[in-house]
Amino acid sequence: MEKNNDDNDDEYEDFLDIDLNDNIDYNVDNLEKKNIDNKRIRKIDQSKKRATIESVFDERTIFQLNKLLVNGPLGKIEGIISAGKEANVYLAYDQKGKEVAIKIYKIDSNTSKWMRNYIIGDPRFKKLPRNISKIIYLWAKKEYKNLKRAYKAGLRVPEPLHIKSNILIMEYIGFEAIPAPKLKDIKNPKDKINLFKEILSFIKILYQKAKLVHGDLSEFNILYHNQKPIVIDISQAVSIQHPKAEIYLVRDIKNIFNFFKKLGVVTPDPKSYYYDIINFDR
Ligand SMILES: Nc1ncnc2c1ncn2[C@@H]1O[C@H](COP(=O)(O)OP(=O)(O)OP(=O)(O)O)[C@@H](O)[C@H]1O
Ligand SMILES: [Mg+2]
Repeated sequence: MEKNNDDNDDEYEDFLDIDLNDNIDYNVDNLEKKNIDNKRIRKIDQSKKRATIESVFDERTIFQLNKLLVNGPLGKIEGIISAGKEANVYLAYDQKGKEVAIKIYKIDSNTSKWMRNYIIGDPRFKKLPRNISKIIYLWAKKEYKNLKRAYKAGLRVPEPLHIKSNILIMEYIGFEAIPAPKLKDIKNPKDKINLFKEILSFIKILYQKAKLVHGDLSEFNILYHNQKPIVIDISQAVSIQHPKAEIYLVRDIKNIFNFFKKLGVVTPDPKSYYYDIINFDR
């Protein structure tokens, strides 16, 4: 029988809401008390970290990870690259010792709520599961499938390698143990105009060939590797037939244009770029 994660999630929510400054009286000139408070804060911090880890590694996830380690394709999990709200990303090695990235989605009732908007209305998904973990599994599969479509269209995204439940294994972008930085962290990228052009062509090919709209495209979801952009985090991408596809497309275009404008790049008229994308022989 499926375990209901609702209650657990609420427990974590309450726990994470603890205000670290509560009950700390800075006017009390009492070192002893301050020490105790400091210890308490450290303790809460530790528990918070544990809660984060535990909320990703629920029993079933540990079971599946174990299976992937025993039967392949995983050889070893090295360490965490990023701890986000919806998912954690880890550096791992396959059984031949090649780096891979693992994205593990958290089974979280709050996350599954907003995910519905990007699933309902997408003709690829016939019905929405009622169970929270099944929605998250569907979401992880959606990212895998979106990556596949983009990769097949020749776009610069990590190659999707394997999907199991809430665990997505994909090509690792980075040099050895150092993952590629996000575009937002690059102070002065080389050849900004070409970089901008490459991202514009990414949006267009994703729409016209892969028939998808990214939906969360910005300098936060583009890695900068070998002086080239690689687009990640494509789970929310919707089919161009989705009723909100055009709204998401406009948002993606705005984000990218704003970022390059701030870098001093002269950008074309976003409206004509938008029409240039959506008017094509289907
Ligand atoms: N294939 C990859 N290779 C190397 N690093 C990656 C890869 N995929 C993701 N990352 C790193 O993990 C981070 C989080 O990944 P992603 O954006 O897909 O997840 P997210 O759930 O949106 O997390 P966040 O809320 O932090 O954006 C990225 O910003 C990037 O630094
Ligand atoms: Mg992201």
